[in-house]
Amino acid sequence: MSDEHVESMLKVDEVFQPSKDVIERAWIKDYEKVYKHSIENPETFWGEIAGELEWFEKWKKVLKWEQPWMGGASWFVGAKCNITYNCLDRHVKTWRRNKAAIIWVGEDGSERIITYDELLRNVNRCANMLFEIGVRKGDRVTIYLPRIPEQIIAMLACARLGAVHSVVYSGFSATALQNRIHDAESKVVITADCGYQRGKCVPLKNIVDEAVKDCPSVEKVIVIRRQEPKIKLEPKDIDWHEAMEKASQKFEPAVMDSEDPLFMLYTSGTTGKPKGVIHVHGGYMVGTYITTKWVFDLKDEDIMFCTADPGWITGHSYIVYGPLLNGATIIFAEGAPDFPDPGRWWGIIERYGVNILYTTPTAIRLLMKYGDEWPERYDLSNLRMLGTVGEPINPEAWLWYRKVTGSRLPIMDTWWQTETGMILITPLPCTKLKPGSAARPFPGIEPMIVDRNGNPLPANEGGFLVIKKPWPAMMKTIYKDPERYAKYWQTINGFYIAGDVARQDEDGYFFFMGRADDVIKVSGYRLGTAEIESAIVSHYAVAESACIGKPDALKGEVIKAFVILKQGYKPSDFLLDEIKKQVRKELGPIAIPAEIEFTEWLPKTRSGKIMRRVLKAKELGVEPGDVSTLEE
Ligand code: WT7
Repeated sequence: MSDEHVESMLKVDEVFQPSKDVIERAWIKDYEKVYKHSIENPETFWGEIAGELEWFEKWKKVLKWEQPWMGGASWFVGAKCNITYNCLDRHVKTWRRNKAAIIWVGEDGSERIITYDELLRNVNRCANMLFEIGVRKGDRVTIYLPRIPEQIIAMLACARLGAVHSVVYSGFSATALQNRIHDAESKVVITADCGYQRGKCVPLKNIVDEAVKDCPSVEKVIVIRRQEPKIKLEPKDIDWHEAMEKASQKFEPAVMDSEDPLFMLYTSGTTGKPKGVIHVHGGYMVGTYITTKWVFDLKDEDIMFCTADPGWITGHSYIVYGPLLNGATIIFAEGAPDFPDPGRWWGIIERYGVNILYTTPTAIRLLMKYGDEWPERYDLSNLRMLGTVGEPINPEAWLWYRKVTGSRLPIMDTWWQTETGMILITPLPCTKLKPGSAARPFPGIEPMIVDRNGNPLPANEGGFLVIKKPWPAMMKTIYKDPERYAKYWQTINGFYIAGDVARQDEDGYFFFMGRADDVIKVSGYRLGTAEIESAIVSHYAVAESACIGKPDALKGEVIKAFVILKQGYKPSDFLLDEIKKQVRKELGPIAIPAEIEFTEWLPKTRSGKIMRRVLKAKELGVEPGDVSTLEE
């Protein structure tokens, strides 16, 4: 471990009290009171919140809860709705009609401002275009796009029609994309000729062409052509702009059951195959609506900048659905935080008077590395609220984030997951803050730190994080794999097991310590050791591999791979490079190991399972813990 990392583990005892003006402005002024009410009367609590939104038909019951292997949780039972009605029509009926919904900033500084009215018309056009080519309720559509407004339009159009969108992060390789299209059996893929990354064009269409070669379910590929001269289209392809031009701007939202699927999003787990997490219209709508509103104290006059990519859950919930449900204005920016220079995001904040900034610890650490002079050059005085998500934030980064934005802003360290759909553990603007802590549960949420058998642990003792009861935006199931879904609730006492290790201090504040399973967080990206290992062993010279996450001062964790070569192959720089290329091909650049070590032996249990824990302990120079099942 580098000195920097050791420093970053320092404990900071300072507590930050919320200022009076923050509390005065906040939707929630008394956390304890609201929390108590939410736990004592959960159905009344969630029912009241759902009542702030519009439903085609009201629910008969707020929550029906059986153990998942019996039928699971159903929220807003019997209700009819469409999330896009609440994201768009509800606002277009009011003065918000001409309010900016999306302010898009291209990597080259170009700008597009889209009002709610315009967004609705475009979403309708896109829904008509999809309907025209045969997309119907329940069909899956894969969206493989860069961060451009069409990504949001396509997502909403699917939802409006009742189709299920599966957004795949545009950094994934052709093979990874193909696996996801294949599993979802998507009828249509929506892509663009290119996405810009540090001034360079990433040829997304070529990647899609390669991916759909072996995907018989795909009938059409819709292509947004951004470049001149325009790329050539194949017989399967449809030009987005031409088809949109022809389509009608009217489309009645499909009447969806509250429990009908809205989208699926693939995420990594402990096995090699990514899981298709399914979210539904009703509960997800209520959960993302209220968390966006209360956590960020979102008001009509606010501009919110969430730097995530809609390829991940943060983008789904806090760029697209949560803010639009609240009628907010969002900044949507293509490109990296430090291109063309490290002032890129600070410049956007100044230029548009951004009020809420929501980003990741890795991005904060990256900007911190470039020094204070970058944020100092810009007027950041419109900022009112900060947020972070995706991995534990070290107190140094937390303190720096606060300092360079004026030493006055609350930081919402929000803990949640793809599966939870919404923020579950977080401060609210009215609560006191402890650097490095995600504070307390959102109202209605009952987390606990327990041991393997589900017994609650005393303050400050690390253990498994579980959630005792269902919440509205929880995943409905895992696509085509209900057993895998049930496992989340079957492992410990019928509680939801998150897979994280955490402790709670004497004030009930949660401190996250990392994953308990074989999931790694590299720059906040979620990767499974098994999927990286299977990418590595797909190389012709590799016999076996084991991967671990290694602490890293910038990225939180990086991947270290141990590799056993097949007989007849010798370790070499050439093979090292080849293996990295193989991982890039199978998964994408985010999964490339930072370190590869050739070895002749891997620690295994008697039943032959690799003990990554032992490898990790050895790597970090600490005790490996219980190794009694280790093979002799
Ligand atoms: C995992 C979920 C939730 C949106 C982005 C990630 C880690 C997330 C925090 C936080 C410590 C965090 C957990 C979690 N994580 N937020 N504030 N503090 N760790 O979603 O890709 O599904 O990853 O990210 O380990 O289980 P995801």
